[in-house]
Amino acid sequence: MNNNLSNIKKSKYFLDKHNCIGMPTETVYGLAANAYSSKAISKIFKLKKRPKNNPLIVHYSSLEMLKRDCILNENFTKLYNKFCPGPLTFILKLKKDSKISKFVTNKKKTLAVRFPSHPKAKGLLKILNYPLAAPSANISSRVSPVTRNHVKEEFGKKIKYIIEGGLSKIGLESTIINLTGKPEILRIGSIDINKLSKALKKKLLYRKKTYMKVPGQNRLHYSPGIPLRMNCKEASKDEAFILMKKRNNSNKNFFYLSKNKNLKEAARNLYSVLRMIKKKGYKKIAVEKIENKGIGLAINDRLQKASKKNK
Ligand code: TXA
Ligand code: MG
Repeated sequence: MNNNLSNIKKSKYFLDKHNCIGMPTETVYGLAANAYSSKAISKIFKLKKRPKNNPLIVHYSSLEMLKRDCILNENFTKLYNKFCPGPLTFILKLKKDSKISKFVTNKKKTLAVRFPSHPKAKGLLKILNYPLAAPSANISSRVSPVTRNHVKEEFGKKIKYIIEGGLSKIGLESTIINLTGKPEILRIGSIDINKLSKALKKKLLYRKKTYMKVPGQNRLHYSPGIPLRMNCKEASKDEAFILMKKRNNSNKNFFYLSKNKNLKEAARNLYSVLRMIKKKGYKKIAVEKIENKGIGLAINDRLQKASKKNK
């Protein structure tokens, strides 16, 4: 049997039995389960130690299936046509007769939905007759996983199966846009906000305070578990130093996100580098200034959250 096919069949076997699996996506790896099964969804919350009031994103591969659960609108159609499948999550109104487990939404009347573009996620979603709820596959408040091994590090044998999908291409979580009223960005990701504005023919603003409307975007988030400071020119010897550009000297506390200030490359490497630093036993992190444009905005956003409070 073709390897891909057997991956997907195995995943279906576990998912049909209300279990969670690790699923690669182009943003980060997700901890996936049947969004219609309360039994499966409660396992996600337990494994992640996630507060019950923090709703999940549900992943689809077809509009037909989405239409059974959500009320679509014009803004959704404009963005869907331009950006899907891809790293964009929509908040939509939930239909009254939707089969989505009430644990997914914490009984809210809205649902976060996404169409991932990773071929393995797409292939899997296509053969299922239910959508997959999938938060990032990490213990709550910690750094998201971008490889299969990272997911193993988080949950070990507690999950039945993890699909191998290589390094996540983007490396940061999806952009979240609320479309239940006036469009509003709730979480910044890899997509340029100007491109979203253009597709909607409306200027979108990204205001940090809208984060407060997203239960999961509290400050204690994306935490590497040790103190982190930003915009540093130099670091002390006992600090891991995260760099964007090649330095002439070399030092064992140097960790490169990029050697030539490439922001996309830096985003892709960020979570792996944070994990590596933690593993090497560093107790503190200093980060060189990262340009606040394009995906740099999203990198700085995650670093700011990581630097706020550390467990
Ligand atoms: O890239 C991604 O979005 C990844 C991959 C696996 O798809 N998933 C992900 O899920 O980042 P998670 O659970 O780590 O983050 C989802 C965020 C949370 O902050 C949650 O509070 C917010 O989405 N959210 C979910 N449903 C919502 C809703 N109905 N209204 C507002 N925010 C919502
Ligand atoms: Mg997460």
